[in-house]
Amino acid sequence: SSNERITLEDMVTSLKRGEYKNILIVAGAGVSCSAGIPDFRTPGSGIYDNLHKYNLPYPEAIFDVEFYRQNPMPFVTLSKEIWPGVKYSLLGKKGILQRIYTQNIDGLEAIAGVDPGRLVECHGHFRSAACINCGAAHDANDCKRRMIELGEAPTCIECGNLVKPTIVFFGEVMPSRFGQLIHSDVASCDLVIVLGTSLQVAPVASIPNWVKRDIPRLLINREKVGSFQGNFPTDVFLEGDCDERSRRILGNGFTSTVTGFRGAL
Ligand code: OAD
Repeated sequence: SSNERITLEDMVTSLKRGEYKNILIVAGAGVSCSAGIPDFRTPGSGIYDNLHKYNLPYPEAIFDVEFYRQNPMPFVTLSKEIWPGVKYSLLGKKGILQRIYTQNIDGLEAIAGVDPGRLVECHGHFRSAACINCGAAHDANDCKRRMIELGEAPTCIECGNLVKPTIVFFGEVMPSRFGQLIHSDVASCDLVIVLGTSLQVAPVASIPNWVKRDIPRLLINREKVGSFQGNFPTDVFLEGDCDERSRRILGNGFTSTVTGFRGAL
């Protein structure tokens, strides 16, 4: 009956038999950790624990658009640590899924070859740059050069305001693609997989709660987060490292890199 607790074995069996046809993935920073990219909130290694030198009023200010307007230099200085390809590189595989909603700004899903139509980069990416005031596009390579080589914040040729990469800061709106797809995606998915996220930042943190209660949900993370702490019968929690765990349940053929689930499905 639907009151029976679903097990990991049930889920893996259904997955391997092809019984799930519309898998929804919600991903966070944890999926990139094995590529050497820090997450945000892990004590010690997370970005928010390593911002002391910037003298910020609070850690998230580094990604706050009002703060950037006042003082762009902390983000400009940090940018060389997090700009994809400046410190890290990687690759991945491709497969089938309904959609992946990622909070990550490292662009690894795109690099891993996930079909762009299947991908929603909820917090944006570094492949383009724009003015925070008028939205005018600014050459992404010029933005990168100015921030990383010259250590300065670029300004808009249209209105003179500050420019930054099109990653979504606090105080900015999400890409319109999110609103266009989320309603039908949560209504039609038949499995939700949540990977490597603390589920602390809205609205992505709520996606797993928007699916119907009888839809099975799998969390692969170092700790239980969000509504998975409620131990619903249709939830499975797989504790540990996302790459190792996804490899274990899907087999080596599915995942060979950091992008594990992201690239594989
Ligand atoms: P967090 O740093 O908040 O959470 C990462 C989660 O992944 C934590 O629960 C870790 O324990 C877990 N984790 C770390 N490494 C892992 C691994 N190898 N395997 C499995 N789990 C692992 O990162 P996010 O939830 O992605 O937004 O953060 C969400 C948003 O907050 C980011 O997109 C960013 C940030 O402020 C913006 O900048 C707008």
